Amino acid sequence: MTTNPSPITFPKGFKWGSATASYQIEGSVEADGKGPSVWDTFVEREGVIEGGDTGQVACDHYRRFSEDIALMKQLKHQAYRFSFSWSRLFPDGTGEPNEQGFQFYDRLIDGLLEAGIEPCPTLYHWDLPQALQNRGGWATKDSPDWFTIYAEALFKRYGDQVSTWFTLNEPNVHAFAGHIMGIHAPGLTDLTGFLRTVHNLNRGHGRAVSAFRALVPDGKIGPVINVGIFEGETDSEDDRAAAARVDMVYNGGFLEPMLKGVYPEEMAPFMQAAGLTLDDVTMSEINAPVDFLGLNFYSRTQIRSAPDAPMGAASARGEGESDRERTDMGWEVFPEGFYDALMRVHRDYSLPIIVTENGAAFPDQKTHSDEKPRVSDPKRIAFLESYIRQLHRAIEDGCNVSGYFVWTLLDNFEWAEGFRRRFGLVHVDFDTLERTPKDSAFWYRDVIDANGIT
Ligand code: FCB
Repeated sequence: MTTNPSPITFPKGFKWGSATASYQIEGSVEADGKGPSVWDTFVEREGVIEGGDTGQVACDHYRRFSEDIALMKQLKHQAYRFSFSWSRLFPDGTGEPNEQGFQFYDRLIDGLLEAGIEPCPTLYHWDLPQALQNRGGWATKDSPDWFTIYAEALFKRYGDQVSTWFTLNEPNVHAFAGHIMGIHAPGLTDLTGFLRTVHNLNRGHGRAVSAFRALVPDGKIGPVINVGIFEGETDSEDDRAAAARVDMVYNGGFLEPMLKGVYPEEMAPFMQAAGLTLDDVTMSEINAPVDFLGLNFYSRTQIRSAPDAPMGAASARGEGESDRERTDMGWEVFPEGFYDALMRVHRDYSLPIIVTENGAAFPDQKTHSDEKPRVSDPKRIAFLESYIRQLHRAIEDGCNVSGYFVWTLLDNFEWAEGFRRRFGLVHVDFDTLERTPKDSAFWYRDVIDANGIT
């Protein structure tokens, strides 16, 4: 990869931070009254997680959060995006709150504020309470109500301490991976259920935004979408058409209703066939005005036509024919796609953007020199530098971006891939739980210090 050596500076006030998610780092899955989530249940299934890993201990962040805040402070992070565990707060999903669960987030938020780090919570990062899954989960028309009641409790509790909020993390990945491909919790593969899930996630998001306006009038809120760049695996018309169909549902099925109040034209009949009501009231509820879009970006996805698969398309991710460098996930290093994703949102929706996730997994190893542990990760530094330069280019070309969060602070439980895929700025030894900032963490600290790349 060639990198452009010229220095770049970001706009004044630009926020730099890192992101995590509750199930991926917290552990303590049964502590202090927490109820099970769909992830606690899913990981028990035979063969679904690489190495049979689970989030039972994860990074033990539930007990080591003070150490993690101190690390962020040392690494000069200005903001921290984390997610609330719904079933820690409401073990049954609705009904009785669990005060001890709330006290954990009290301590976390107080600790962050004391350290001068802005807490930027996500309400939901895929860990639905199992009790609600048992009642039909996101495919049920009541699910937006459950989510709104849960969200209101958080707005009331933290609305005076927290000003930047995210509703749902990547509802598109959650719907695809969890509700039709079956590779994430809750492991479902039914098309009608998938379409209902898409719609109810959208409704839940919109309803939570409206509740937020009443409870936190000075705060800012938006969804987090994984904005995908889809291309045909080959130049054939069939592959290109398949890529366009995936794009329409994966991006369009969320961005269009949330930001414009409509579903893509070709998608609507399928939604109606799944028994969903797309009347004006429902669509404008989904379209509640947001303050920004949280944008996650990693790589492009190559798609091939697969007539027997849902949407007639299958992912060639990790198996495509390009000779680009790949990360440990098999994802291509594709920084230009980041620019394209940002500019697409800017062009189609013209709203402010916060980059809520970007980063890479590499097989990092801890070594020791003079007794001191060290993790050298030049590939991550090169990756981040190339993507941050594309972000800067998008800003210069008119895109309104106010912050950037690296995925992720700590090596953690990478869903179906378990602990082997290391995305962290900080290495975690999963035997001892010892944290070691990687070289990239110090490199990123200097980026933050300079508000750019010098
Ligand atoms: C995103 C997820 C995040 C993490 C990264 C690698 O899709 O939001 O939890 O798994 O991918």
